[in-house]
Amino acid sequence: MGYTEHTPKIVASEKTTAVYPGTFDPITNGHIDIIQRALGLFDRVIIAIAINSQKKPLFSLKERIDLINQCFGPENDRVQVDTTSGLIVDYAEEQGACAIVRGLRAVSDFDYEFQLALMNRKLARKVDTIFLMTGFRWIYISSSIIKDAAKHNGDISGLVPIHVQKALQNKYHADYQG
Ligand code: COA
Repeated sequence: MGYTEHTPKIVASEKTTAVYPGTFDPITNGHIDIIQRALGLFDRVIIAIAINSQKKPLFSLKERIDLINQCFGPENDRVQVDTTSGLIVDYAEEQGACAIVRGLRAVSDFDYEFQLALMNRKLARKVDTIFLMTGFRWIYISSSIIKDAAKHNGDISGLVPIHVQKALQNKYHADYQG
């Protein structure tokens, strides 16, 4: 198929922005792996904490923003953290982003991600979804499984940054002296 009115224009000198949406309740090393690799592809990555009406987050929006910011630090000006309550494609267009980044962990992610990407494409032709394979070491983790392990005193070290581990211990075990 040749050039159509929907073909994204690629201008070599233009800075590229990608939006990485998710609930991030909390951010894990799997998410960080995806963000770091997205930074190799795009000039700017906006981590967009989105409202998923089907989820009841453990951490408030402010807590999730703080936990993400502590992963990257102010010196990393190519990473931004934001929140959005509308459609992700509308947010991506507002930000001038050319892509939405999603991580794929296993075949089980595919159906949902495929449906989401097609719906997003139907809503906004100019914003493409880019899938990155989650690093092998993080293939089995999710925010829920980390929370469950932390709640029951399971060892989650190495799966989330230390400050996230402490935040989880503070939420679930008020007597924790970390
Ligand atoms: N490492 C670790 N975990 C990962 C991961 C990775 N690389 N990639 C995904 N996950 C996990 C997450 O931790 C999360 O775990 P949880 O379910 O236990 O919380 C799960 O996979 C997937 O969640 P997430 O990536 O946070 O996405 P989501 O399913 O909560 O959906 C949006 C978030 C932003 C995609 C969705 O809410 C959305 O699009 N909202 C806006 C409305 C909209 O535009 N809808 C679509 C068109 S109608």
